[in-house]
Amino acid sequence: MSGTFFLDDQEIPFREGQTVLEAALAAGRFIPHLCWRPELEPHSSCRLCTVLISGRPFSACTQPAMKGQRVVCDTPQLKDLRKAVTQMLFVEGNHFCPACERSGSCRLQAAAYHLGMQDSHFPHQFPVRERDSSHPEVNLDRDRCIRCELCVRASRQLDGKNVFGIHGRGVTSRLEVNAPSGLLRDTAIAAEDQAVAFCPTGALTVKRRGFELPIGERRFDRSDLATEVLEAFAAKEARHG
Ligand code: SF4
Ligand code: FES
Repeated sequence: MSGTFFLDDQEIPFREGQTVLEAALAAGRFIPHLCWRPELEPHSSCRLCTVLISGRPFSACTQPAMKGQRVVCDTPQLKDLRKAVTQMLFVEGNHFCPACERSGSCRLQAAAYHLGMQDSHFPHQFPVRERDSSHPEVNLDRDRCIRCELCVRASRQLDGKNVFGIHGRGVTSRLEVNAPSGLLRDTAIAAEDQAVAFCPTGALTVKRRGFELPIGERRFDRSDLATEVLEAFAAKEARHG
C-alpha cells in the first residue's frame, strides 16, 4: 500500500514497505536516529527516533508508514526526550571527545550538537570496560561503545562474518567478540569490513589511520548531522530508486 501520512503538519508520501523514518527522509524531513542505517535491518534500540502516534510513543525506524496516519515528531517534549537519551548515552560510557580519533565524524557527537546538548546533565557512571587491541588492524574501545549493534548487524548481514554479539541487557549489556578467546585477533575481521565502517562512534577504529583527516575538515565539522544524513539518503535513493 502506498499513500500519504502527516508528519507534524507536513504531508509525506510513502511507498509500500517503507517505515515512517524512511518515508520522512525520502521527503527531506530529518528524524534523529543512531541505531538505524538504510543498509541494515532496523533494531530499535537507541530510541532517538521516537515519535508519537495517537499519543503513544513508537520508533520511527520500525513503525510502518500507514495511510492517513498522524505522526508527531517535532515537539519540545520529544526534543527534550531525544536530548536526554543522548545525554544518557554519554554518561553510560566514557566519551572524551577531544581525545577521540572519531571526533568530527562521530554520529553520537553530531547528534548531541544537532539536539543542542550543552552538557551531560546526568552523573557520569565511569564504567570500567575492557579494550581489545589484539588485532593487527582493528581496535575495539568499549569505552566508546553505545551498544547500537550496528557492527553486529553489519558483520552478519554485509560482511558475512558474525564477529560481534551483545550479551546482557540494558546498561549492563556488553559488546562481545565471537571467538573462544573473546579477542578480535581470533576473528576474521578486517579493516575494510562494513562492521568497522558502520560504527557510529570511536569504538571500532582502524589502526595506523588516526587523524589522517585533520580535525576541522571532517564530515560533521563541515555539515550538520541532518544535512549529511539527508544528502546520503537522497543519493542512495537515486542509485537504487
Ligand atoms: Fe555500536 Fe560501535 Fe559499539 Fe558496535 S562497537 S555496538 S557499532 S558503538
Ligand atoms: Fe530508531 Fe534507534 S534509530 S530506535
